[in-house]
Amino acid sequence: MAIIKVEDLKFEYENIKNAIGGVSLEIEEGEFVCIVGHNGSGKSTLAKLLCGLLVPTSGNIYIDNKLLVAGDESEESDLLRRKIGIVFQNPDNQFVGVTVKDDIAFGLENRCIDRCEMIDRINEFSHIVGMDNFLDRSPESLSGGEKQRVAIAGILACDTDIIILDEATSMLDPRGVREVLGVISNLKHKKTIINITHNLNEIVLADRVIVMNGGKIVACGDAKDILEDEELLKGANLVVPDTIKLLNLIRSSSISKEVEDEVCQLIFHK
Ligand SMILES: Nc1ncnc2c1ncn2[C@@H]1O[C@H](COP(=O)(O)OP(=O)(O)OP(=O)(O)O)[C@@H](O)[C@H]1O
Ligand SMILES: [Mg+2]
Repeated sequence: MAIIKVEDLKFEYENIKNAIGGVSLEIEEGEFVCIVGHNGSGKSTLAKLLCGLLVPTSGNIYIDNKLLVAGDESEESDLLRRKIGIVFQNPDNQFVGVTVKDDIAFGLENRCIDRCEMIDRINEFSHIVGMDNFLDRSPESLSGGEKQRVAIAGILACDTDIIILDEATSMLDPRGVREVLGVISNLKHKKTIINITHNLNEIVLADRVIVMNGGKIVACGDAKDILEDEELLKGANLVVPDTIKLLNLIRSSSISKEVEDEVCQLIFHK
């Protein structure tokens, strides 16, 4: 069943017509989708529309078959919005609490989680993202990567059906990325995940990759097919990853098929 259905969605900012220029999309419950696209292609705008933070210029968004009405204060709309948790591209836009602990607690309080359960979840998820020793710190005093970790903990703790990550690992060090990807991989097929990213390692984890260009979806498919389609990547103003260039070199050389298969396995994990 499609947990998210988008019909001919359009959105314009005051100065930018067609920031989203007619997007139709269905995402199945439990699916792990990555969205890629060059700077300004509309990824964050689409994410904000999906969680009701922006009001579409036209088109419809359905969550669980129910029409999402952005800005509507009714209980039904509120329940619908609570199905979605988003980690913003800039973690500074996400913090509301005076301390890290308050901040993670905020989303839980909004969901009326009882106090004992709240404390358990704060401890569990701050530990999972490696921030359990920072609970009494002020979010402003954290580094960019630490802020991203806290923002991720806050969303995971809310246990929403749909998780949207907008370049949520962009400030993490390589080890941090690996750790967070491990956490996200564990949620694969338990939650519906939309991961907006430029990171190849994240793309290959996805069930489906969506490529955006100029506010539109220009391709949709398996990570391997997308990454190996040089014309598509160039057309979407994306850079062909060095690993794919290396793979193509191996393919066009006399290096054995075994080596090619091993490199493929390393890149695509399959
Ligand atoms: N608040 C805003 N006001 C006006 N224009 C905006 C605003 N936010 C984004 N835009 C414009 O809308 C277009 C899409 O921006 P968006 O942030 O969705 O892109 P993106 O794909 O997320 O890019 P990036 O990879 O840089 O995060 C861009 O042309 C951008 O300049
Ligand atoms: Mg963005």
